[in-house]
Amino acid sequence: MSNEDKFKKVISHAKEYGFIFQSSEIYDGLSAVYDYGQNGTDLKNNIKDYWIKSMVQLNENIVNIDSAILMHPTIWKASGHVDAFNDPLIDNKDSKKRYRADVLVEEHIAKIENKILKEVSKAKKRFGDNFDLDQFSSTNPRVVGYKTKIKDITETFSKALESDDLISLKKLIEDLEIVCPVSGSKNWTDVKQFNLMFGTKLGASAENATDLYLRPETAQGIFVNFLNVQKTGRLKIPFGIAQIGKAFRNEIVARQFIFRMREFEQMEMQYFIKPGTQKEWYSKWKKTRLAWHLSLGLGKENYRFHDHEKLAHYADAACDIEFNFPFGFKELEGIHSRTDFDLSSHEKYSSKKIKYFDPQSNESYTPYVLETSIGLDRMFLAVFSKSLIEEELADGSKRVVLKIPKILAPKKIAILPLLKKDGLPELSKKIIEDFKWDFNTVYDEKDAIGRRYRRQDALGTPFCLTIDHQTLDDGTVTIRDRDSMVQQRMTVDEVKTKIKNELDIKTWLSF
Ligand code: GAP
Repeated sequence: MSNEDKFKKVISHAKEYGFIFQSSEIYDGLSAVYDYGQNGTDLKNNIKDYWIKSMVQLNENIVNIDSAILMHPTIWKASGHVDAFNDPLIDNKDSKKRYRADVLVEEHIAKIENKILKEVSKAKKRFGDNFDLDQFSSTNPRVVGYKTKIKDITETFSKALESDDLISLKKLIEDLEIVCPVSGSKNWTDVKQFNLMFGTKLGASAENATDLYLRPETAQGIFVNFLNVQKTGRLKIPFGIAQIGKAFRNEIVARQFIFRMREFEQMEMQYFIKPGTQKEWYSKWKKTRLAWHLSLGLGKENYRFHDHEKLAHYADAACDIEFNFPFGFKELEGIHSRTDFDLSSHEKYSSKKIKYFDPQSNESYTPYVLETSIGLDRMFLAVFSKSLIEEELADGSKRVVLKIPKILAPKKIAILPLLKKDGLPELSKKIIEDFKWDFNTVYDEKDAIGRRYRRQDALGTPFCLTIDHQTLDDGTVTIRDRDSMVQQRMTVDEVKTKIKNELDIKTWLSF
């Protein structure tokens, strides 16, 4: 199945099984805005919980806050967002469609990368076991040519971005003969900068209203509360402040489902450190965050680091953790060494002293900041897309299963009476009463048992318990594992112990 087809399946499965709906669908939808359905909300909450537990509950020096979305407008001047939170955009004069100029170039590079992958896969077939990837990549003339092309484009591209040289960026698009996917023409406007913040107004009358912005990141709510939290919590450096919350960006290229949304959620943590120690903390947090991702078991090969060549205005080092989404490796999380840029800037703009007094060295200083910032919706897409699998079974039939890491699964247990009679539904409901205190449990009595198993597979429910006549006699049930489909007979107490063990947060988060 091609990646494109796989991605279409992800989107349709998310809708069919109550995970994600287009926002305002009955009014034909709102572009790049989505609603989470009954199962999507559970999965999203479980991801948040997994992050908060590892970030806050397991670190005695990291605390959690929930700051407001609306903030004083000067905050966005101080943070640099008013002046520098821009994307370069370009219009095609024939189709009147608007694009991000940098994305057009990136997509062009991705096409060349795909050509390399095709050459490699052809050669793999040709050479079989004797295939040597390194040797092939460094000697095959076509691959070498493609690589040189990518290197040349990347150099020109990075230079143009770094120096905000929009004329060179347009020239690169023209030189590469990039065409508009809609009109097919190369009739481009000049490249312009476009600010991504959504504006809104505070106040009852138009004359007295204050212009505000919907926050484009949650981080600034943490910076402006630095002293409040440090003082009231009597926190000593190093310490962290974490936050999960909504952010808003008026994205120009808003597609790829929930990958790039106009309203989305971030899980951010700002770690306040002593100036001079940022390199050490940068590499520590890179390792910790990758370990967190790997703990979910989605496959080591699906993650890679990408170091930023063009640093944001606040950073002295930055990288992304990229994930292998159905449309290729793309940013999932950012790790940024933000220096003292934000706190110093808020000190300047607010005229309030924002310093930390170090009781050990008896000195005051502006802390440096190490940030980890992950998009909750992107994390959702990573988990969901990688878990959706179509399996061919021994009898030749197919099953669609969501092998979501069990700890994140929306519902943990489905209780299924074999028949809708003989007291089996009543007994099943008694068992639910017992389980529901510890686990998100569902009841399903409709259709044949095989179809119910398939339905729970498609929802990602890790355990199905079948209640039959033997349960009435000896209190044992059949537990079926979603991934292996193995069925075992055991007592309800044994089932509880088994599920508790498999969902033990300590085992999942001990890395
Ligand atoms: N405070 C730093 C910051 O906001 P960022 O790289 O712009 O950094 C951090 O964003 C993360 O937020 C990204 O790695 C991505 O996962 C997520 N994100 C950013 N824009 C997004 C969008 N339009 N839709 C969904 N997630 C987004």
